[in-house]
Parts: sequence; C-alpha cells; structure tokens
Amino acid sequence: MPQNIIITGGAGFIGSHVVRLFVNKYPNYNIVNLDSLTYAGNLENLKDIAEKSNYFFEKADIRDADLLQSLFEKYKPAGVIHLAAESHVDRSISNPIEFVTTNVVGTVNLLNAFRAHSDMQNGRFYHVSTDEVYGTLGDEGKFTETTPYSPNSPYSASKAASDHFVRAYHETYKMSVVISNCSNNYGSHHFPEKLIPLMINNIKNNKSLPVYGKGENIRDWLFVEDHALAIDIIFHNGRNGETYNIGGNNEWKNIDLVKKLCEIMDRKLGRAAGESEKLITYVTDRAGHDFRYAIDASKLMNELGWAPTVAFDEGFEKTIDWYLANEEWLTNVTSGAYKHYYADMYGAG
Ligand code: NAD
Ligand code: DAU
Repeated sequence: MPQNIIITGGAGFIGSHVVRLFVNKYPNYNIVNLDSLTYAGNLENLKDIAEKSNYFFEKADIRDADLLQSLFEKYKPAGVIHLAAESHVDRSISNPIEFVTTNVVGTVNLLNAFRAHSDMQNGRFYHVSTDEVYGTLGDEGKFTETTPYSPNSPYSASKAASDHFVRAYHETYKMSVVISNCSNNYGSHHFPEKLIPLMINNIKNNKSLPVYGKGENIRDWLFVEDHALAIDIIFHNGRNGETYNIGGNNEWKNIDLVKKLCEIMDRKLGRAAGESEKLITYVTDRAGHDFRYAIDASKLMNELGWAPTVAFDEGFEKTIDWYLANEEWLTNVTSGAYKHYYADMYGAG
C-alpha cells in the first residue's frame, strides 16, 4: 500500500521543487499537493510531473479548518510537509493579518487535522520555516538552532508563532514533528516580487533596479534544489522534536549580488559591460530591515550528512538562464495582480 504524504504549498517556489523531487524519487508514496493557488501558487510550475500516477492535487485553503478535516479523513496521511505560507516580508508590512490567518491559524488547522486523522505519534509533521525567526545578526556570528527567537517583521513573527505551535503539539500531544529553518533560496520558479527574480525581470525590461537603503544588508543564499534535498533528508531521518538549520554558507551584500547579476545579464543579453548597472536606484529602506542573516548548518551536516551540492556561480547562472528561457512564465505571473502590487510598492519606475 503506498503511503499518502501531503505537501502543502506545493505549487509555490520551494514547494514545487519539493513535490517534483518526492514524486520522482518515491514511487511508493502518493504525493498530495494541497494548495489554494494564491498569486504565488502556479500549477504551471509542476506541468512536467502533473500526469504522474503518484501525484494528486487538492485545491484547498489551509485557513478552512473543516475542509482540512475532510481531506485528512480522506487521505489519512503518514506525513505532512508544510510549506504553504504567505512568504513575502514587504507584503507582511502592508498587510500583517493575512500572515496571521494563513501562517499561524492555517498551521494550527493542519496540526489539528493531522492529530484527528493520522497516526500522529508514528507519522511525521514537518514544518518548513525560516531563519528570519532568529531576528538579525550584526557583522559577526551565525544563527544556530539554539539562537533565541527574535522575529522583527510581521512575516517572521507569524513563522515564529507557527514554529511554536508545532513544538507545542509535540510536547502536549506527543505528535512526531520536525522543523527546519532555512536561509534565502534562489532558483527557478521564484516569484518576481523577491530580490533575485525581480532584478532579473527588471534588467531584462530595462526598468530601474530598486535597492533598499544602501544595499548593505546581507543574505545567505542557497540553491532551492539543495533546500529540497535537505527537506528530503530531514523528513526521513530528522530526530523527532528537533530543529535543523539549513544554509548555503554563501553570504552576499545585496548591492554586490545585484551588481554581479547585472554583469552576467549584460553578457547574456549582449549588452555593453556596465549598461545594466546604470539601472540601479537606491530606494527607501524596508521598515525594520534585518541587517544580516547567516546560518550555521553544522547540525544538519554532521548529524544527517547533508551538504549543498550546487556551487553559487553554477546555480546563479542556471537560475538566470531559466528566466531567460521561460519568458512566457514570467509574462504570465507578472500580468494582472502583480502590476498593481508593483505600482503600489515601487511606483511607476
Ligand atoms: P511562495 O510564496 O512561493 O509559495 C507559497 C505557496 O503557498 C503558494 O503555492 C501558495 O499558493 C500557497 N499558499 C499560500 N497561502 C495558502 C493558503 N492559505 N492555503 C493553501 N495554500 C496557500 O513561498 P516559498 O518561497 O516557496 O516558501 C515556501 C515555504 O518556505 C514558506 O513556508 C516559507 O516561509 C518558507 N521559506 C522560504 C524561504 C525562501 O527563501 N523563499 C526560505 C526559508 C523558508
Ligand atoms: O531568509 C529566508 C527568507 O528569505 C524567507 O523566509 C522569505 O520567505 C523570503 O522571502 C526571503 O526573505 P527576504 O526578505 O530576505 O527576501 P527578499 O527577496 O524580499 O529580499 C532580499 C534582500 O533584498 C533583503 O535585504 C531586501 C532586499 N531587497 C528586496 C527587494 C524585493 C531590495 O533591496 N530590493 C527589493 O526590491
């Protein structure tokens, strides 16, 4: 009998990579992608595996507790990998409540459905979370699994709250859980509200490149397929009740990353060297902008044997090539609602 595994948010950026990996690697699992298809969810991301016999899709909103109860009764999943979330920090600053209802209430609804309909002590509820729960770093140090939570944005506060609920269900109901907190991902199918795909899209269209503040904030970038591989390892081998940090040991100042992108894009688009860099525009900083994230992933590496497989130069080129080769995807996701979001956020620029 194949086991049912529910992956929430499987139509989003990271979720689509996780669904693809699991569908292809585990024919003995039925993979159920549970996603409400918000602006960030797109079934086009999964068209290559949509016809596989072990792939199922359920359009469902995790805020709908009754619907989750009936779906969990139907599938009785052996495991849940929970990625569905409102994920963009800037949107959380302008509309925090959506982040509470989806990220916090939605997570609790899933925990309740898993508790009611699955063998919760022998199964596995995996919450995919973020390093932003730890707050911000100065020039030195890295986040470890014991760094105290100190979220600064409504987004990270909602992810911290959902982490706490997962932990509480482990302590209170003995649910088998695992949590991972990962740094910034990059790769294909990334919605172009986020730094890297937004800049790629703007360079391509000769639009200004809005760098927040002085561009000196630092992020630790990991290729999305390496995150998916880490999720696979943690889901199967992570210790019950534990947290694992995931990161690429690959810190970049935003401005340096944007300049590197401009340089590569000039080459790929046949533009004169330095042409795209002229598009860089320093704009008002993000409110409460965390200065630096950096991850110490040694627990995951030493205990479970994970390591990133894709070097940054290779992953970055691959990512840029994917966007250049998938113009239709970019056009589709940036039509409609994206235009209003962009105008509200950045003006006409
Ligand atoms: P994303 O915004 O690209 O995708 C989110 C997915 O969740 C979409 O498919 C969307 O339709 C779905 N969704 C949103 N609200 C829903 C709801 N109410 N009901 C059902 N489905 C809903 O996000 P992402 O960047 O792929 O992130 C996935 C997860 O990983 C999130 O939990 C995020 O916090 C976490 N994470 C992201 C990063 C990153 O760099 N992107 C890093 C660490 C952790
Ligand atoms: O660290 C993990 C987190 O990484 C995830 O939990 C979030 O879901 C994900 O969105 C990401 O959050 P960030 O806020 O770090 O990512 P974003 O791409 O929005 O921004 C990266 C950096 O670039 C940040 O310092 C803000 C800056 N930035 C971003 C945008 C969109 C700009 O300078 N200009 C921009 O237009």
